[in-house]
Amino acid sequence: MIPGARLIILGRQGAGKGTQCVRLSRHYVVPHISTGDMLRAAAREGTDLGTAAKKIMDAGGLVGDDIMIGLVDERLEKADASTRGYILDGFPRTVTQAEALDGLTARKPIHVVIDLDVPREIVLERISSRRVCRDCGTNYRTSGDDPSPWICDVCGGDVQQRADDTPDAVNRRLDLYETQTAPLIEYFSSRGALAVINGVGHPDHVFKRLTDAVEARR
Ligand code: AP5
Repeated sequence: MIPGARLIILGRQGAGKGTQCVRLSRHYVVPHISTGDMLRAAAREGTDLGTAAKKIMDAGGLVGDDIMIGLVDERLEKADASTRGYILDGFPRTVTQAEALDGLTARKPIHVVIDLDVPREIVLERISSRRVCRDCGTNYRTSGDDPSPWICDVCGGDVQQRADDTPDAVNRRLDLYETQTAPLIEYFSSRGALAVINGVGHPDHVFKRLTDAVEARR
């Protein structure tokens, strides 16, 4: 275990960030901070932020930088993250967010930024077959012959396709990745903080590559 690890996982939508962050968070015993999960929880609760964010998310857009920076600032201040470290999944997603994060982490800098690299054609295939529990977020893969209703094995919640996993929304998300998020690869690379990890292959093999990369830099 690496005490106090502070990591960022970048990567295309559907690269497996959420899947691997859950495992990394258990492995390093640090909170997994997923901005997508935070927004989906706010949408389920029906808060003003959640309702506004849901419209943007369902259309495959990006929620405004100021809102996201405020959310993450508040989350990093909580005792678990400020003392034990964290894994950031889905933030930063723009250069403006990355610059703000530099300020938020000035006293306790990020140790490693990982780009989980999976080509667009593979993520499109993964996302189109993804089904997710609305309550606990567990991922499933459709076989085309799914139970109806489909009940989550973990919590008994409804398993459904995510509202932003429609072809139009996915293509918009992937286009926004290229224009808004891909520039972060150069941003972090120029600071010597970046490790590019091949995200194709069995999830156990990808996980091993990730932990090797983290440990090589700590
Ligand atoms: P978010 O929830 O972060 O979604 P995302 O980035 O689009 O990422 P995904 O959840 O689609 O993919 P993932 O990489 O986590 O892949 P997964 O592990 O599920 O954000 C949602 C929305 O919130 C955004 O679009 C935006 O609107 C808003 N938002 C969030 N943060 C924001 C920010 N900072 N600024 C502005 N807006 C923000 O894996 C995908 C599938 O592949 C799964 O089915 C999985 O089982 C499977 N899989 C995983 N690994 C493998 C493997 N090795 N081999 C085969 N299959 C695999």
